[in-house]
This record gives sequence, structure tokens and C-alpha cells, in this order.
Amino acid sequence: MYTKEQTAKLQGLTKDLQKNATDVDELRNILRFHEYRYYILNDPLLSDEEYDNLYKALEKLESENPNLITSDSPTQRVGNSLNKEFVTVPHLVPMLSLENSYNSQDLVDWDKRVRGFVNTEVIEYSAEPKFDGASISVIYENDHLVRGATRGDGVAGDDVTTNIRQIGSIPLSAKFSEYGIDKIEIRGEVLMTKNNFRKYNESLAEDGIAPLANPRNAAAGSLRMKDPAAVRKRKLEAILYHVSFIDINKKGSKNHALLNTHAGTLELLSNLGFKTPVHEKKVFSSIEKIIKFCNDFENKRDDLPYEIDGMVIKVNNVELQQQTGSTTHHPRWAIAYKFKARQATSQLLKVEFQVGRTGSVTPVAKIDPVHIGGVTVTSVSLFNADIIEEKDLRIGDTVIVERAGDVIPYIVKPLTDLRTGNENKIKFPDHCPVCNDPLIKPEGEAIWRCVNINCEAQVVERIIHFVSKDAMDIKSFGEANVRKFYSLGLLKNIPGIYTIDFDEIKKLEGFGQKSIDNLQTAIESSKQQTLNRLIFGLGIRYVGETTAKILGKTVEDIFELTKFSVDDLRQLKDIGDKVSESIYDFFQNEDNVAMLKDLAAKGINVRGNKKQEINGALSGQTFLFTGTMPTLKRNDAEKLAEDNGGKLLSSVSSNLNYLVAGESAGSKLEKAKKIKSIKIINEQDFLNMIQS
Ligand code: IVH
Repeated sequence: MYTKEQTAKLQGLTKDLQKNATDVDELRNILRFHEYRYYILNDPLLSDEEYDNLYKALEKLESENPNLITSDSPTQRVGNSLNKEFVTVPHLVPMLSLENSYNSQDLVDWDKRVRGFVNTEVIEYSAEPKFDGASISVIYENDHLVRGATRGDGVAGDDVTTNIRQIGSIPLSAKFSEYGIDKIEIRGEVLMTKNNFRKYNESLAEDGIAPLANPRNAAAGSLRMKDPAAVRKRKLEAILYHVSFIDINKKGSKNHALLNTHAGTLELLSNLGFKTPVHEKKVFSSIEKIIKFCNDFENKRDDLPYEIDGMVIKVNNVELQQQTGSTTHHPRWAIAYKFKARQATSQLLKVEFQVGRTGSVTPVAKIDPVHIGGVTVTSVSLFNADIIEEKDLRIGDTVIVERAGDVIPYIVKPLTDLRTGNENKIKFPDHCPVCNDPLIKPEGEAIWRCVNINCEAQVVERIIHFVSKDAMDIKSFGEANVRKFYSLGLLKNIPGIYTIDFDEIKKLEGFGQKSIDNLQTAIESSKQQTLNRLIFGLGIRYVGETTAKILGKTVEDIFELTKFSVDDLRQLKDIGDKVSESIYDFFQNEDNVAMLKDLAAKGINVRGNKKQEINGALSGQTFLFTGTMPTLKRNDAEKLAEDNGGKLLSSVSSNLNYLVAGESAGSKLEKAKKIKSIKIINEQDFLNMIQS
């Protein structure tokens, strides 16, 4: 929507307006631009506080000159424009956002304002984390999830029901009828845990795609994906925290009086199987206690599995909420208390280019050491050349560095106002900084690669990966030792680990008899590691621990894999096209096979744990499960099939005998219908096959 040039221009204008905002039209255009960056691209260029300040400046100008208000002003609606790729659906009740506060005085002021609206002295407040994800609304009708939507512009959002159904923590049905509830709309946040985010970014890096800055962008992006199966793999979570619409017509067997308070609402939702902040929230009758609770919570922020960016304080009693009411933008009965952004400024001293195991060249900024959230940051990955250009980073720039929880630090932006003119453009190399081969940027990728597999940097990184904890786990070998031994010529490749000259190592400083003994024992015992660890340790592109485990239990020994075609590999559970091709290429490469033979000759275990064929009711038959089964979980159904001698396939092909289709089965069912030999059955038919 905005070209590079426009973006640069608007960023410039933003700075001018931050100093002095007098032009209403310009202010609106700038706000619209930043809304677009935030809501549509999930790539904001301003902090929330900076945005709020501009927004308030517009509100002020408009209230001073009401004749200047236009119907399309950002202040005259609940948000922003929509992503066009999904069907737009109206929310039952507009999804308002929250007013922000940044310090205890803001909360004291808010408490006073609330007191002006209610007819009681005693107000209970509930405080809970402000989850930093993507907001959604879900509707249940007659106990079934019927719709899930993104926030969109607050009035209408994108219908992402299929994707929301992939989120394990959202029940597909819940017994609302027990409370007499016919229809309910619930608000919540879709999140990616810090751990899953890290793994997801690693997989992006493998694919040559720039990693995402934070879990919020990852969650929001996931909701907009076209392939629901891919969404499922992201392992999203959803936490629900607000009932926005409810239709109670009948009397239920359970009392819905819980809905009279926010705390009770969370309890009711939890009772029905939803994930809510019921345990994290606390209710107090004084704003001072709420402030203390929020400040204490800030210290626990890093211990949580997901990101939070503040707390949300809500009037607990729903009747009092109604008395307090809402503005067109936010409820008056709730407020967000934002934590301090974990940012600091530093100076970009130089950029180094690191070559990874797969040849990817990553620019890494060396910055003046700076403390952020208890950690000293000296190096910050810049991910790829496009990011350097987009942010217009220069050596010598003063930069804002952010470190959010476990998330790796990143550079938010340079402070261009502070430039002296002595800053230098960053030049991305066109040759590998280690082996000097020309770098290549594959079509559609953002990352430059060195494709010389004998490039020293790659060889060293491969050895480091091989000895690492999750691979062959050769304790006390470690990254530093690999680098040292390699640079001294004592170690040249992976098999070299097993013939390393300990007499030479003994001569090195810091290597006493005890450390030599430890190293020797660790190397020796690694020979007995399982085949899946060996396969993972080989560093085959796209082969993570899960795929390595699948391969390990598929073959009797590693050399069997040299006989697998791409198609054979594709038939294995959870192994897709890209991964199959990469595994195939690896095992067709003569040098790789020679290395494996060398390892086997040196006594490294290459035997797999192929399962003994089970003679059962399903022997000789292949199965694939799709959709949601009425009683069995997917994993349990698959285990049942295997325990009874059946074999699982991962995709629909003429090799498939049975497709077991559950509710909302999608493309696999359609494909299977076209292949006559495949029998399409349901869960009950499948269970009958085992029982008969
Ligand atoms: S309550 C009508 N509670 O923060 C009030 N919102 O910046 C509904 N958010 O739009 C919102 N955690 O998407 C509420 N515990 C929480 C929240 C929360 C995160 C989001 C929500 C809201 C945004 C405002």
C-alpha cells in the first residue's frame, strides 16, 4: 500500500509532527499510515506510547476545532482498515481497545474517574496480565464454536474460524447450555509461547526467510495463513478474558450468577474448558494494592512462558462496569498499565558477517555494550541485507535496541536526528567472508548464502552441531574446543573427532590429564548414541529432531536411507516435499555416504530401531486420519492404528487404503474422493475394524 519512498517520507513527517502537530489533515494521514503498519503489516514503526501521543494530539486539535472533524478521521472509528484476504464479518459488539497508562499516578487518576460514574464507595478491581498477542473474538452457539474472527477495525474482522479451530486450547464445543446460555461472544488473545517462537524463527532462518521480531507478529501472522495444517504446526495458544455478548434464554442446571463479576466470568470460562487468566488475576478493593500487585508482576514477567506487555485492570462488578460505560474507543471500566519497554540506546560500532552451518550469511551488529533487563547486550543480529536497507542502518548510528524477555535482542531503528554526517553505509559482501566464494541469493529468499560446502566456516559449524547437546552430546567438546582444535589443524571434519590426537591436545594450555580423560570418555560413549541423534547431528537441511526420530525408527541402519526415493520419504508421517528432497539429496551425495561409512568403521552406532512388524487386525493396511474425530484424539487414533499392525501415511496417494475422516476434514478428503481405491471411513468404522 505504501511504497518505500512514501514510507520514508511519512517517517520523516512523523518526526516533525512529534515535535509540533498543528495540521489536522497531515496528522490523520500519519496516524492512518501507522495504523496500517501496526494492524495490517504487523510491523509498527512507532512505540505504543509514541502512537498514543500523536493520537491524543489529533483528539486535542479536533476538540478545539470541532468543525474540522471528518467522518473518516482515525478518532471517529474503532480502529483501522482490514486485511482483504478473508471474508469480513461484523462483531456482535464492537471490539474496543484499551486506554493505556504508564505509571501509578495514571492509575490513581483513572480510579478517581471511575468513582465519578458509580453510585458506590466500594469498588473491587481485578488485575491480570496484558497478553501480547493477536486479539480475537469467538462465538459459540448451542454449545458449538461457530465463528472466530480477528479484531480487524474493531467493528468487523476477518473470519478466521478454520485457523482458530487449529488452536488446541480453544474448545470446539463447550457446555454453555448448562448455564442456560444460547449464544456467547468471547474475546481473547492468540499467543505463541516464547519457546515455540524461538523454534519457529529457527525454522524460518533455515528457509532463508527473515525471522519475525516478536511472538505477537508470529501469532498475528499465523492467524492469517491460508493453510490450516500449517497453523496447527505453529502450536498457538489462546487465552480468553472477556465476554462481550451473551444471550441467556433458558434456565440452566448451573447458576450463571458467576457472570456478574469479571473474576466469576473467568471462573465460568475456565470451568467450561477455556484457558483464562483465572489464576493470574487478583482482586483488590484499593487502587494502591492493585498498583503494588502490577509492579510485583512486572518482576515476574520473564518467568512466564509467553510475552506480556503490561497489566489490565478492570472493574470487577459487571453492573458497575455498565454504570461506568465506554467512550467510542475504549471502556472506561478497564485500563491497560503498560510495563516499561525493554529498550535502550547504544551505538552501532561495526557489522560482522557470520557464516552459518548451511552457508547463510548473517550480518551481526557490534554495539557499545548496553544493559537491558539485566543482560549486557554487545551483539545484535541484523538478520539479512533487506532489513539493513529497510531500516537504513549506518555504522556510527545511535540505535534503539530492544530485548523482550527471552526474545533475542534486535535493533528497532536508528535515531537519524542524532546523525553527525560521519556515519557510513553498511556494505553487504558479495563474496563469502571466510572462503571468498561468490555469495548467492536463491530466488524468493532474503538470505545470501555461501554454497561451498567445504567452506571452513560451514565445516566448523557442522562439527559444532554434531557434538552439541541435542545431537551426539559429546560433553566437554563444545563450541570453543571445536574452534580451537580446527584452527590448530587437529580436527578437520566430523569423523576426525574419533581419531583426534590426544598427545597433541595434552600440549595445549588448559588441558590437564583430567580434562583429556573426560573428553576421551565422552567421545567414546557418543559411539553408542541412538541413530536419531546421529541423523540430527548430520545437520541435513530441514531435518530437526522430530524428523530425525521418524527416520531413526524407519530404517534398520542408516545406509538403508540411500535407497529411499523422494516419494518413499514423502510417504513417511509428517515429512513434506521440501524435507524429503533435502534428505534425498543428502543420501545421494557420495561424499556424505563415504563419511557415514567412515563413521560406521570407527564404531559409531548406525543401527536404527525399526519397529517389529505387529501382526494385528490392521496388518498390511495403510491409514491416514484427517479432521476432528468425535471421541479419539489424533495421536491416540494413530497409536491405535499402529498398535494393531496398521501403517500410517502422511499424504493421500494410491498407496493409501483407508482415510479416516472426522469433522471438517478438508483437502485430504477431497483428494481421497478422487482416488477410487481409497476407502473413506469414519471413527466408528475404524474402531469396528479393530474390534471385529
Ligand atoms: S480486556 C472491552 N484483557 O489488549 C475490553 N484485553 O491494547 C476488552 N489484551 O484490545 C479487552 N490482554 O486485545 C483485555 N487481559 C486482557 C488483555 C487484553 C491483552 C488486549 C486486547 C485489547 C488490547 C488493548
